[in-house]
Amino acid sequence: MELIPLSLLLLLFLSTILFLLFRTSTARRRNLRSPPGSIGLPLIGETFQLISAYKTENPEPFIDTRVVKYGTVFTTHVFGERTVFSADAETNRFILQNEGRLFESSYPGSIANLVGKHSLLLMRGSLHRRMHSLTMSFANSTIIKDHLLVDIDRLVRRNLDKWTGRILLMEEAKKITFELTLKQLLSIEPCEWSENLRKEYMLVIEGFFCIPLPFFSLTYRRAIQARKRVTEALHLVVRERRVEREKGVKKNDMLAALFDSDCDDDEIVDLLVSLLVAGYDTTSTTMTLAVKFLTDTPSALAELKEEHEQIRKKKGASLALEWDDYKSMPFTQCVVNETLRLSNIISGVFRRAITDVKIKDYTIPKGSKVFASLRAVHLGQENFEDARVFDPWRWQKISDPTNFMPFGGGPRRCPGHELARVALSVFLHHLITRFSWIPAEEDKLVFFPTTRTQKRYPIIVQNHNVVG
Ligand code: HEM
Repeated sequence: MELIPLSLLLLLFLSTILFLLFRTSTARRRNLRSPPGSIGLPLIGETFQLISAYKTENPEPFIDTRVVKYGTVFTTHVFGERTVFSADAETNRFILQNEGRLFESSYPGSIANLVGKHSLLLMRGSLHRRMHSLTMSFANSTIIKDHLLVDIDRLVRRNLDKWTGRILLMEEAKKITFELTLKQLLSIEPCEWSENLRKEYMLVIEGFFCIPLPFFSLTYRRAIQARKRVTEALHLVVRERRVEREKGVKKNDMLAALFDSDCDDDEIVDLLVSLLVAGYDTTSTTMTLAVKFLTDTPSALAELKEEHEQIRKKKGASLALEWDDYKSMPFTQCVVNETLRLSNIISGVFRRAITDVKIKDYTIPKGSKVFASLRAVHLGQENFEDARVFDPWRWQKISDPTNFMPFGGGPRRCPGHELARVALSVFLHHLITRFSWIPAEEDKLVFFPTTRTQKRYPIIVQNHNVVG
């Protein structure tokens, strides 16, 4: 009789041990599971699928189909590397906030080579924190209000004065933002030298999304040569300014702040190269797309026009915008937000896991490439109602914009975010109060290698302030 309960007890004990062992090992296996997905063909992975989707007006299916199949965090293989994609707002915030602790920025080789090893985009740790806050101190609200707004307003108007007939809006916007950035960084006024430098810059940016092997890619070879000419030109400026500084000439710009921060000339030039890159293409493309979205949405254009006509009426003969004017453009800010949300100039950010990182039910193994897709969140129906429609009025109702991250987040949040907003608002003000326009031909949005319209958005403008 006594034998039965004893053997039962033993059986119970053994099965409990086995159950616990099984549970621990499946839990461990589950915890170490990478996000599901497909890595496509050997070496190439799914790169061609990604590129061909981004070359169309609607790249969403690349992410949409994978989200449906695997969930909002999935694995793919693009640009030569297995990459974990996040289309999840909370995961993206986690990735961005943990910069330096769990993740570090990791740009494709082509971009890293072209911006230079001392660029802010590639800096890490305390040096990054110092240089990021130095950059912020040259683009924050106070400095814009007291110092930069006057130049932004003047340079925008100066460019618009020359507009007549058919223009390529993307080209014109690029000229404007390049001139603004050169002024802010180096106190240089637009001239033949600056226009030549801009053309070299365009070649550098063309090389960003090439295979970084000069032998294989003519575009990349051209970009490397253009970068050399850009750095030579900037080195010359830096040397001349050092001489001026020794003679006691003081200027209030980013270069003066860099001199004070004890950087050597190579470091300064790399920083300047990357700052020009970061602010130039992004802001000008947003300007162009805002105009395109407004042209396609006449009711939004009419409401925006009304807001700016009111400001103009109050100002009378005074043309230049002041800080209070900028602060009285609520609908303009809705238009800017909606343009940033829908166009996603920076579609996402690349990071690398510096340790095993647990996200949701998965583990992202140490060393993995991670892409936090800002675009997928901004266009996700669960985050924004009718997410793929241009609806600036939605911003009058949104009280918690935590899913909106066009400027990234965490320690690498774009230091130029306020500057970009001001430049966009000033540009829209002068455009809308002086001109009417119609598209000169059909043009469409594409997203590879960068977000742009295929034909640089040709429009025909009519200046209402010109008599005769
Ligand atoms: C519409 C215009 C702009 C957009 C959409 C934009 C977007 C972004 C985003 C998403 C990042 C984060 C990158 C990352 O986390 O890896 C970033 C970083 C950066 N942006 Fe902007 N940006 C714009 C304009 C500007 C302007 C005008 C400047 C000029 C000061 C600027 C300078 C930078 C710099 C230097 C970084 C690197 C920050 C770092 O790594 O610490 N951006 N930008």
